[in-house]
This record gives sequence, structure tokens and C-alpha cells, in this order.
Amino acid sequence: MLELLDQNKTFHLQTKETSLVYHVLETGHVTLVYWGKKINSHSLSYVIQDIKRASYLSNTDGIKDFKLEQIPQAYPSFGNTDLRTPSFELLFADGSRLTRLRYTGYYVEETKQPIPGLPTTTGEDAKTLVIEMTDDYRQIKVSLHVSVFFEHNVITQHVSIENQGDKTLSIEKMMSGNIDFLSDNFDYCYLSGAWGREAHRKSQALTQGTFKLDSKRGASGHGQNPFISLASKGAKEDYGELYSLNLVYSGSFEASVEVDMHQNSRMQIGINSFDFSWELHPETTFHTPEVVMVYSDQGYNKLSHIYHDFYRQCLLPKSSIDRELPVAINNWEVTYFDFNKDKLLGLAEVAAKTDIDLFVLDDGWFGKREDVTSSLGDWVANEEKLGGKLSELIEGIHELNLDFGLWLEPEMVSPNSDLFRAHPDWIIHVPGYEPQISRHQYVLDLANEEVQDYLISTLTDLFTNNKIDYVKWDMNRNITDSGSTYLGVGEQRELGHRYILGLYRILDVITTKFPHILFESCAGGGGRYDPGMLHYMPLTWVSDGSDPIERLPVQFGTSLIYPPSTMSCHVSETPNHQMGRFSPLDTRHVVAMQGSLGYELNLVNKEASELDELKEYVNQYKSIRHLIKRGQFTRLTEVDDVNHYSWQFISEDRQNMIVSYVQLLAKGNTVPKRLRLKELEEEAIYQVNEHSYFGSELMSIGLSLKKVTHDFYAMSWKINKL
Ligand code: DGJ
Repeated sequence: MLELLDQNKTFHLQTKETSLVYHVLETGHVTLVYWGKKINSHSLSYVIQDIKRASYLSNTDGIKDFKLEQIPQAYPSFGNTDLRTPSFELLFADGSRLTRLRYTGYYVEETKQPIPGLPTTTGEDAKTLVIEMTDDYRQIKVSLHVSVFFEHNVITQHVSIENQGDKTLSIEKMMSGNIDFLSDNFDYCYLSGAWGREAHRKSQALTQGTFKLDSKRGASGHGQNPFISLASKGAKEDYGELYSLNLVYSGSFEASVEVDMHQNSRMQIGINSFDFSWELHPETTFHTPEVVMVYSDQGYNKLSHIYHDFYRQCLLPKSSIDRELPVAINNWEVTYFDFNKDKLLGLAEVAAKTDIDLFVLDDGWFGKREDVTSSLGDWVANEEKLGGKLSELIEGIHELNLDFGLWLEPEMVSPNSDLFRAHPDWIIHVPGYEPQISRHQYVLDLANEEVQDYLISTLTDLFTNNKIDYVKWDMNRNITDSGSTYLGVGEQRELGHRYILGLYRILDVITTKFPHILFESCAGGGGRYDPGMLHYMPLTWVSDGSDPIERLPVQFGTSLIYPPSTMSCHVSETPNHQMGRFSPLDTRHVVAMQGSLGYELNLVNKEASELDELKEYVNQYKSIRHLIKRGQFTRLTEVDDVNHYSWQFISEDRQNMIVSYVQLLAKGNTVPKRLRLKELEEEAIYQVNEHSYFGSELMSIGLSLKKVTHDFYAMSWKINKL
């Protein structure tokens, strides 16, 4: 896992298939000489020596031809002869920003340590190399904590900075990861979108300059994901090299790639330095969030396989690992706010008859909430609407043999609420300005420990007094008016990060206290679909767009990094409420079965025959849900094929699989083609309906596709190895 060469000046970190090599120069600069496919151990110092010197760059430390700007570094600093973007920036009490970090030593941790206050990936066999660098004049120590997950082919890193001096300094920027490449021959790939159409996969050619992707929203956001990747030219689902960074963080982040004058690239990811600073007092340490680094030598599918396995085993809550995905009915698109006890129980009764497992009561059950204008913060049941106590409704649902789930939006407060009337100072705002209101709500100041404690005790009471099996934790607006009356003057730019630390503290306490509750994260859909939230909540409502056709690129993009088992996907009405589009029931199911299946369908107004059909789908899903949860997911079509989407899941024992295919628009006078499968055993025989085929046939010739006679056409196959 870790080889020390050159009298401990070269660190060769190895996973099963990859290598990451640091080399410490005579000057004490720590260089990152290699990241990629596994190589044989070597000092690799020649990589630096062989760099041909460019003109007009400064020498460093008075050494002739030592041009730091060309050297690939592990954690470059500001104010030196490398004039590219530094990985961190500090402001000292005397106004100076200059730092000169030099290597001072390393140590190895045999067990991976948690990062204080932040979600951390864990693994029994993970080892951590800590590389220490100091600036003796400023008395600061910067440590890179690099963990190796050998079997997973994953390397993670977080960075800490300790103030060993006697004066407070200000951190202005502190990235979690900085990767320098001696090439710019890449495309950069990322996920972007908007509310209702999140996580579309994009890629573009790199050119000289800086490409930056960020969120300033206080959440990772609908428009971008804390992920960035460099891909070799022409990379496809099963071909090409990819170098990817994914940040375990749910707040404002930045990710960038800078291409310099000499065709080198620098890729970074971390907390957004925009509107961020942190007062680092003497004898205190600041820790960045963790970045998960994955290299794939076989395109996007392999990248996904690595991330999926790793997140399932090393990130998601342990309590969720053995739990089957429940088939849910959620009343949101069925009733919106217009419900009472009878309506809910009526829906639940039909759901139970349809073999659904879980009833989720969405927004509108508390305070005086009849629409979005009131009551967030007053987490007390509206007994008039529910026809009695919440516990009685839950009992009614449980009697139908359904689990019970409840919607909450704990981070928010409505101006028209008892909570706001009692604590107007608990919201994020700047005194003197009327705070902006969005969806008729304010954001609670989670940097304030009193607010955190209040939420912990309110939720503890709610979950103790009611037999709740599932919680949908929503968050429906971003942070404006960034100011906290709780934080000091010099701490105001700490608010964004302190909010997230406060949120993580609440989630940590609550999910530890109530491990039996399954949590679904939601932020108006995928407005906070990131590894930070996944650490506490193994499900995420992928998008408020529930139209299956709109969902296809969203789910495909999401699946690039996050396991499909974490995607909450519901079959909704046709015409779809957001798009007005009509789509066949079968297509809606095929798309929703790519993740954790649920319904937002008014089952009460369906004919008996339709309910029979739904029951069949539910049971079909139950027979494959172990595949969705634990199987290997592979995309069969390329992302630029916008008319066809196809994917497969293979079970862990590779005995069963499910293959799905959707064609968006029918085409005039075309002949049906075939669909080639992937990752089968060439010699093995597979049963497809009444036929059997060799694996090699299915991979090279493929399944026969039907002639498509209408738009939004779906097919799926269940395949067993004989
Ligand atoms: C936004 C969510 O994404 C919806 O599913 C629903 O829960 C509403 N909020 C309720 O207000």
C-alpha cells in the first residue's frame, strides 16, 4: 500500500490497480509526480529533472533553472515563484499573505481517523499517510492526510492546518485536493443542470485559462455537483482514462482546472473560497472536507463501478447496508396540501393492497400549514387535519402493514410560525436589512449551537413519541443575507461552513440516536445530492422533475458517481405535473426501477385492472431490488446518444441481471437494431425469455430490439445465467 523509496523522499501509494507518487525535493517542496495506472516502484525523481525549462519563469530559492511554476506540486502556496492558482491562501496579522511550506516529516496511521465535525469515509483496511509541511517563520503546519483503500482503488485526502504561533491568522482559501498534471490533453467532465433537471453530464475540451465550477448557494446545489474529472480525449463509457475528484461536502464548493502557458493542468476542489474565511486562533487546527479521488483506465463505467462500490461500503450509513429498498407511496403529487385523515388512510389502504411497503406523509401535516406560507418550524401535528394525534395516524398506517414515513424541513422557519415569533434572531440575516424571503421561508442559523440543540431536542421528541420508520428531510431554499447575529464580527465569513458543520452535527446525533429510521435527503429534489449528505442519508430524492423522460439524463448523470440504490425514483401521473407530458406506465416503471422505486400516483382513482397491473410491477421490482441495491450498474448507451438510454444491473454473484432500454422518439421507416450487453462471462449460457445464448453472443451480437411504434418506448429483460 505504501512504499518508501529514496531514503524516505519518495512515497509510492498503491491501490490494487493505481499508483500515486509524491517526491520531496532537496529544497523541501513536496511534488506530486504521478497519479494513474499502477506502475512499478521507482524513485520517479527523473520526472521532475526531465522537465524542459520554459522561458520567462523565475528561478526559485536562488537555484538556477529551478522553476517552481513548472513543477507538479502536492499543495502549492501563494507568493512564490509559481504564479498559478495556489491551493490555499492565508492572511496574517501583519497583512502579509506569503507562506513558504517545506517538508518536515511524515507518519502513517494504521487506522483511518475521522475528520473532526465532518463526514468521513471509513474502511477497516484503509491506511493513512500524513505528510507534514511547515512554515517556520509563520509557525504553521499543513498536513496532507492521504488514505489508501487498496481493494477499492480509491485514495482520499483531507488537509489540516495548525496554528503553532501566538497570533490569530485568517484562512482565506483551503482546498481539499490539488492535482497537478504535466499535460493539458484532456476534456473536463462535470455534472450540471437546474431545479427539475439536475446532474446532466457535460464535457468540454480544456484550453489555456481557468475553468471553474462552483456553488455559492450554501448547498452543493441543483446547478452543479461537487465533482470534477479530467478525461483523456475521446473517453467513452468503456474506454479512456479518467481522473476524478468528488468532495464529501454539502455546502458551497469550488472545483477548477487551470491550464497554464506550458500545457500543464492544475485541478482543485474544496470549500468555496468566495465569501469564506476562517479565524485560526493560536493552537487550533482547521480541517478541510475529504476528497475522494478515483482513477479509471477503462472509461466512465469503470469510474462509476469504483465510486458505487466504495460509497456503498465505506460512506453510506452502516445501518442501511442490509436493508432492502422499500417501495414507497408518497402523497405529495397525489394530494399536495389538500388532505385529511380519511384521504390519507384511503390512499394507504389501496397502497397496502398493491403490496407497497411504505407510506410517506409529505408536507402539510404540522402547525397550521395549508400551503407554503406558514408553519415551518412548528413541528407539532395539525390534529384537526389528521383527525387526531400523529401517533394514531401512524398506528392506522401500521395496521395496514405499511411502514410510516414523515416529511420534515428542519433547517427552515416560516415568518408565520410560533418558532419565528419566539426567536426572530435565529434566522440567517444581517440586522438593518429586511431578510429576503424565498418560498415564504427563512433559513435557521445552524451555526448557532442553541439552534442546533433546539432542533436536536425537537426531533428527538418527535421520533421518540411516534413510531416513525422513515424520514424525508427536505430543504427548499438557498442562503441569502449571509450574516449571523451569533457569530462575531471577524467570523461572519465562517457562516457558510459553520452552517454545514452545524447541520452535520444534528444529522450525526439524530441518525445515531435513531438508527432504525431510514432517511431520504431532499433539497427541492437533487439540490444537495452529495457524499456529505449520503453519509447520513442513504437515499436522495433525485429531482422534483418526476417526468420519466426528463429523469433519464438526470439519473444517468447522477449514476456517474452515486450508487443507483441511493436514487429515490417515483412513478407519477400522466400527464406529468411538471412537464405536462404523457408517457406510458411501463416507461415510467422502467425508469423508476433504475433506483429505489416509489409512487406519487393517486391509487384511489384507479380501476381494479390498473391496480392489478401496478401490483405486478411492485412485485416485479421486489424480485429485482436486491440487484438495484447491491448489483453492478453499467450504462449500455453513450451519453451523447440522446434518443436511447439503456443500462444493466448484474447481481453480486453474477447469476441474474436486469437490462432496461428506453427509446425517446420513434423514427419513420427505420429497422430495429440490437442491444449489446456488457461484462458477461463469454462461455456461460444465459436464459433470456424462452431462448438461451452464450455470454459472448449477448456481448457481441446482443438482444433483439422490437420495432418501436410510439414515442417514449421502453423494454426490459430479466436474464439468468444457467
Ligand atoms: C420539495 C420536494 O422536493 C417535494 O418532493 C415535496 O416534498 C415538496 N418540497 C414539499 O414542500
